[in-house]
Amino acid sequence: MKQVADRETTEILKIAQECLSVPGDFIELGCYEGDTSLLLAELLQNRGGSEVSYAPESQKELWIYDSFEGLPAKTAEDESVAGKDFQEGVLFVTKREVKQRFLRANLKVPHIKKAWFADLTDDDLPKQISFAFLDGDLYQSIKDSFKAIDGKMSPESVIIVHDYNNPELPGVTKAVDEWLSRTKHKLAIKDSLAIIKVY
Ligand SMILES: C[S@@+](CC[C@H](N)C(=O)[O-])C[C@H]1O[C@@H](n2cnc3c(N)ncnc32)[C@H](O)[C@@H]1O
Repeated sequence: MKQVADRETTEILKIAQECLSVPGDFIELGCYEGDTSLLLAELLQNRGGSEVSYAPESQKELWIYDSFEGLPAKTAEDESVAGKDFQEGVLFVTKREVKQRFLRANLKVPHIKKAWFADLTDDDLPKQISFAFLDGDLYQSIKDSFKAIDGKMSPESVIIVHDYNNPELPGVTKAVDEWLSRTKHKLAIKDSLAIIKVY
């Protein structure tokens, strides 16, 4: 099932395109079935559709991450009546299924890492990042995502976090606000996207 609304996808791709001129690779933490990852890969391979105009083929690489075991358990920060569907183990997909989608679409297979975000080390991530999409749904997952990309975002790069201000997933907003309060980066909000421009 589609996790990101069409309007949000259009915005994500527009911003990712702007990041093509910023040094560093693209990453997505929480790829699930790879819907957004496939579109980012198309953008990097100059294979997109008509909604945004696409740049010549890029040398940038795409790195995508997931537990491939579904969501971890919630913590107290995630509790909400509205979000009762987001339980441990839901959103399960295998790494193989995601890889097959790239092969079937005739797209270059990205770096696909199966791991809990908390266990990612420097070696699992690109040295420099120009665009990061964080879509881990839960408080600790978003906190761990910020930790993983810490010190790797280029100046003028962008971090987009999905589900900001989503009443079903209150932990996301909490994790973003806590992280932002320790930085000077600027936040813009569009639908449920927290769009953070890194300085
Ligand atoms: C909403 S889905 C992602 C949707 C995807 N970005 C898209 O555009 O279709 C959230 C994903 O994050 C993964 N996830 C959440 N927390 C995680 C964690 N702490 N470590 C690894 N994966 C995690 C889940 O397994 C799930 O596949």
